Amino acid sequence: MIRRIAVALGLLAILAGSALWWLSRAQPLDAETLAALDALDADAERGEWVFWASGCASCHIDPEAEDDDRPVLSGGQRFETGFGTFLAPNISPDPQHGIGGWTRAEFANAVMRGVSPGGAHYYPAFPYTAYVRAALQDIADLHAFIDTLPESDTPSAPNELGFPFSIRRGVGLWKALHLRDDWVIDGDLDDAETHGRYLTEALAHCAECHTPRGATGGLDLSAWMTGAPNPSGRGRIPAINTADLGWSADDIALYLDSGFTPEFDVAGGTMAAVVRAMARLRPEDRAAIAAYLLRID
Ligand code: HEC
Ligand code: HEC
Repeated sequence: MIRRIAVALGLLAILAGSALWWLSRAQPLDAETLAALDALDADAERGEWVFWASGCASCHIDPEAEDDDRPVLSGGQRFETGFGTFLAPNISPDPQHGIGGWTRAEFANAVMRGVSPGGAHYYPAFPYTAYVRAALQDIADLHAFIDTLPESDTPSAPNELGFPFSIRRGVGLWKALHLRDDWVIDGDLDDAETHGRYLTEALAHCAECHTPRGATGGLDLSAWMTGAPNPSGRGRIPAINTADLGWSADDIALYLDSGFTPEFDVAGGTMAAVVRAMARLRPEDRAAIAAYLLRID
């Protein structure tokens, strides 16, 4: 009898284990999406707009680099979190140390699904949780633009994570809970608000910093943009929903362009790099982001 129970428990453990294993598998883009992606003509010049809108440079630029139109994406910046320290890898077009030679499909799976060319999970410190909503054309154009940037032969450094966070496979379970591609703010949006939603929720990943996280580390969608503790452990990131921020559309657009608040403070901390990227967009893009933020109560 005892033996039977032991066998049954053993089988259950194997079943639970394989269910977890199955749940935590890598889920790249499906064949139909990849075929559609492959059929697109890429426009590197347009990709430059996508690049600044999605803030890739903020994390991947050489930490020593000056502000540049053609940034060296050598990686090396450190991001401290409660789980350990992440190090941004080299994503310059260098064929050995960067992502030179990656196919468009490999690039899209990394950016939109957090899946590496070898089928491993990336950690969500890389905000694919936002980019999952990006348009395929934008991803193709972005890849073409990054291919035109300078090569860097700086090797990528490994993350500094303790057990169990060091196990990449576990990220699959996290994704099963938190990776979703629907819009957070829904309903009747006009053209500017819709464009602003695309920029804010899909590309510029504003919520990654401005929205608090729940117990399992996913964004708390019911507290969208209401501010959050700073992941570095110092201070709070302010709320940018309409009620708490209390700024006009012009105030927001001006801040994203110049970094000046209505009180003539200047954007600091990690927001400074966000502003430098936003300042490279078109005025109508910054106005659209403002229109969108004003739709969040
Ligand atoms: C908030 C910081 C941040 C932003 C913004 C960001 N990344 Fe990353 N990225 C990372 C981190 C951290 C990793 C490493 C994740 C890991 O080790 O699992 C990474 C990994 C990658 C990789 C995998 C590289 C490799 O060698 O396997 C690619 C490709 C990449 N990012 C491209 C991009 C692109 C393109 C953008 C803009 C659309 C972008 N990233 C925006 C932080 C960021
Ligand atoms: C990497 C994290 C990060 C991202 C991404 C980010 N922000 Fe911020 N944001 C901050 C921090 C930190 C501050 C506080 C800046 C300071 O102390 O000067 C801030 C401040 C602001 C403020 C000023 C609020 C106030 O009360 O002074 C606005 C508005 C704002 N962000 C909007 C945005 C928008 C819109 C986006 C997306 C385009 C965005 N942020 C993306 C970190 C971020």
